[in-house]
Amino acid sequence: MSTFLEQAFLERDAAAARVFYDEWAPTYEAEITALGYAAPARCAAALTEYVTDLDTPILDFGCGTGLAGQAFNEAGFTHIDGVDISPAMLEQSSKKGIYRSLQPIAAGAAPDGKYGIISAVGVISPGAAPGTTIDVLMHALPKGGKLVFSFNDHALADPLQTGRLNEWIDCSAAYVLFAEHGPHLPAQNMNSTVYVVEKY
Ligand SMILES: C[S@@+](CC[C@H](N)C(=O)[O-])C[C@H]1O[C@@H](n2cnc3c(N)ncnc32)[C@H](O)[C@@H]1O
Repeated sequence: MSTFLEQAFLERDAAAARVFYDEWAPTYEAEITALGYAAPARCAAALTEYVTDLDTPILDFGCGTGLAGQAFNEAGFTHIDGVDISPAMLEQSSKKGIYRSLQPIAAGAAPDGKYGIISAVGVISPGAAPGTTIDVLMHALPKGGKLVFSFNDHALADPLQTGRLNEWIDCSAAYVLFAEHGPHLPAQNMNSTVYVVEKY
């Protein structure tokens, strides 16, 4: 395991997360793909169960090198935009040629544009984006819009992360269409729950 993966889930603020992911960007994809990274394909498969119009624009939030965008593209989605705090990650994802646009985003900022679907695959986690990201992304969705995302085992153990989702559900501002626990990084025995949540 690289030093990056060993340190990935340690608490850090947004400035440190940006530096961390900038440094990991050149080797991130090869490393986690070799470990069987399963969340992108699981999120794409879950999404296709609830979205029939594959032309619905997707914002791939925290797109990284583009593994989730690639999974959505392979599932047939046609309009995928990406944002990330890490310029070096965006440089990697631009090589995939599957994004309509790729933009840097400041930590905690509301995304521009209107999207019927927002994804955050492997993004909301200790060491990356905070649980309050759920609020930012849910507010950015229109009524009926869908958020597809994963909470890895570290996020699931952190009430600051799961609590933000529960708040939306408990007050009936959103509804969980799909939640399934399964493999995240199988070679590391790490799992995640994949969610599809609809905004009321
Ligand atoms: C583990 S990677 C996941 C990348 C991609 N979604 C995937 O599934 O491979 C986490 C990504 O989230 C980005 N990130 C971390 N904090 C963020 C924030 N506050 N806002 C937006 N992106 C963030 C990182 O730069 C990194 O690209």
